[in-house]
Amino acid sequence: MSTNSRPYIFVIVILLAIFGAYNYVVYNTDGYVTVEKLPPVAIKGQQLFQNNRCWSCHQLYGLGGYLGPDLTNVYSAEGKGPSYIKAFLNSGVKSMPQFNFLEEEKNALVEYLKKVDETGIYPNYEAEIEATGWVKLKYRNEK
Ligand code: HEC
Repeated sequence: MSTNSRPYIFVIVILLAIFGAYNYVVYNTDGYVTVEKLPPVAIKGQQLFQNNRCWSCHQLYGLGGYLGPDLTNVYSAEGKGPSYIKAFLNSGVKSMPQFNFLEEEKNALVEYLKKVDETGIYPNYEAEIEATGWVKLKYRNEK
């Protein structure tokens, strides 16, 4: 008895070829959201933010502790910005301790908060759901 298995092999080869092509496209296409790398000074700021537990009282994108306000857009908020941020670091306020940061460290924290600010708006009321099921957000760096 001889069954001709060639058609099956042919189908399998075609399926593998489609699978390969599909993976090639998926892994060589830029993602839905472009990834931006933080410059070294902002990474230092992020480390300071973590090591000094700013998270325990503050939120970024609404996540974190709730003793102090959300800092996502403190960099660009009207009447706020770099020197405003530094003033709080210098003096402390209410339950926020006074930090004895070096000027260089304060600059790093400001740079980090600047980068965070560039990524988006919180709370973001301009989010919309697309037909594909993705949520389209308005990004800060979108011109
Ligand atoms: C123990 C809690 C606590 C910690 C830790 C803390 N903060 Fe604060 N922070 C506060 C509180 C409370 C306020 C003042 C809220 C107010 O007066 O409205 C504040 C205010 C601020 C503000 C002004 C925000 C605004 O929009 O007016 C900035 C900027 C800030 N903190 C940055 C930091 C950074 C950076 C760190 C870490 C190095 C940090 N804070 C650590 C509690 C804290």
